[in-house]
Amino acid sequence: MNPLVRRLLWIAGSLVAVILVAIIAVVLYVHSAWDTPHDRPVVSLKASTDPLAVARGEYLFKYGHACWGCHSPKPDAAVPPSGGRAFDLRSVGPGFGIFYARNITPDPETGIGAWSDGEIVRALREGLSRDGTVLFPIMPIEAFHGLSDEDALAIVSYLRSLPPIRNAPSRSELSFATKALYTFGIIGPAPAITEPIVAPPRGKTVEYGRYLANYATGCMDCHTPRNLEDGSFYRDSLFAGSTIRFGEDEARPHVMAYATNITPDPETGIGKWTEEQFLEAVRAGMRPDGTVLSTHMPYGYFGLMDEEDLGAIFLYLQSIKPFRRVTEPVWYSETYRNGVGLERGKAIFEASCMLCHGEDGKGAAPTKLSLAEIAPTFTDKMLIDFVTGGNVGLRMPAFGKTLSKEQILDVVAYIRSIQHDKP
Ligand code: HEC
Ligand code: HEC
Ligand code: HEC
Repeated sequence: MNPLVRRLLWIAGSLVAVILVAIIAVVLYVHSAWDTPHDRPVVSLKASTDPLAVARGEYLFKYGHACWGCHSPKPDAAVPPSGGRAFDLRSVGPGFGIFYARNITPDPETGIGAWSDGEIVRALREGLSRDGTVLFPIMPIEAFHGLSDEDALAIVSYLRSLPPIRNAPSRSELSFATKALYTFGIIGPAPAITEPIVAPPRGKTVEYGRYLANYATGCMDCHTPRNLEDGSFYRDSLFAGSTIRFGEDEARPHVMAYATNITPDPETGIGKWTEEQFLEAVRAGMRPDGTVLSTHMPYGYFGLMDEEDLGAIFLYLQSIKPFRRVTEPVWYSETYRNGVGLERGKAIFEASCMLCHGEDGKGAAPTKLSLAEIAPTFTDKMLIDFVTGGNVGLRMPAFGKTLSKEQILDVVAYIRSIQHDKP
């Protein structure tokens, strides 16, 4: 072989080797460094056991932030948040991995029973677990970051009042890309909070509405577009609609929806809505055109918030910068649209009714009514008429403009088929 060619080949070979070694070094580094704990002092804070603080914490936990929606194994606020719900983000963005919500009941071994109050507040507001590792931002840290000391501690008071449940959920499995985002600090903890945070005085004001919409409820977290490469929010377009499609992380969803634009843009947002229309959407799921929102918008629970709080949120949302942005329409599964009989009835029930009526219609926070018990006391026609016309005052949506007659027949037949074990 020509010595020059041989030399060139040798150089090329060495280069490839150097690049390979560099790649292997980066891979090894990422695998060993991504979960390096952050050494950050825990601010000393003390949660109260006062019933008023516990009640405030319960309000924020159940309705404002619906922590149970992620932390309870069943979609029911009354089920203790012992963890386990899986979020499959393997096909979102760079493929983030599978994440499991953790046990936040006061069990000392598998939950937060052994944590100090300050450690729990740090986890919520700064995104660091007890051992200093960074929590993945499915947990709405950017929202919790602005929670007042009083409200964050009220949540701690409420968590401590729950029964301890022994349950160790699977550990989250992060993809290499996510580990790299952690290693290079693209996903990291929120800035340290060293000064006390005080909420504006309660009342129907823009100021208090800003606090509620951004920090004390999930509105901002769901309704703001995110950069799907690293999960961060586009803060110049707060409330302009999600880039995440809710339902996508579930194994077999029947409905998937983007959180819509709720800035005051008159065409693509809610600029033309009256306060009454807003309240009807947020409390009973009814849009001004008479169709029903999908339950990825947890209106059954916002319906249990104080009307004054929701009024403050409306004032604030009408005061922010309008942003022109349209999200894609709601997607329904083939079974939900065109399935037949009980199979379709069950799909519709799980996607559109279970939020308020609980698993198997046993009842949940928005209504304690047991559908299996009341169904035999009604004729089919009465049930069909009720589901069609709803009772918006009582926060039962009217499905007549959202579901076809056949879909309503199937969901009514499904309700009739549910059997409960008698207690
Ligand atoms: C959108 C879903 C979601 C919501 C809403 C949510 N969490 Fe989480 N939370 C998670 C996930 C997922 C994790 C685990 C993150 C990880 O694996 O890095 C987590 C982790 C935590 C941790 C850390 C536990 C540990 O062992 O490190 C605490 C504490 C916690 N959440 C409390 C809460 C509280 C209190 C609320 C409501 C105020 C809440 N979460 C709302 C999804 C959520
Ligand atoms: C868990 C995610 C989530 C949270 C938290 C959430 N939303 Fe939504 N919201 C959605 C989704 C998804 C939709 C779209 C539903 C659909 O189109 O069927 C929606 C729709 C809406 C609509 C209807 C807008 C329209 O144009 O039809 C309003 C109004 C609204 N949300 C207000 C709020 C307010 C106010 C809060 C906080 C109190 C809030 N949302 C919290 C997910 C969420
Ligand atoms: C936003 C929460 C919510 C959702 C979603 C919801 N419901 Fe209801 N539903 C209620 C409430 C609250 C009541 C209780 C009304 C009352 O006390 O009469 C109720 C009552 C009922 C009743 C009993 C009527 C009576 O007079 O006792 C039926 C049947 C029913 N719902 C069916 C459905 C079906 C089917 C769906 C889904 C297609 C659904 N609901 C979705 C909240 C909801």
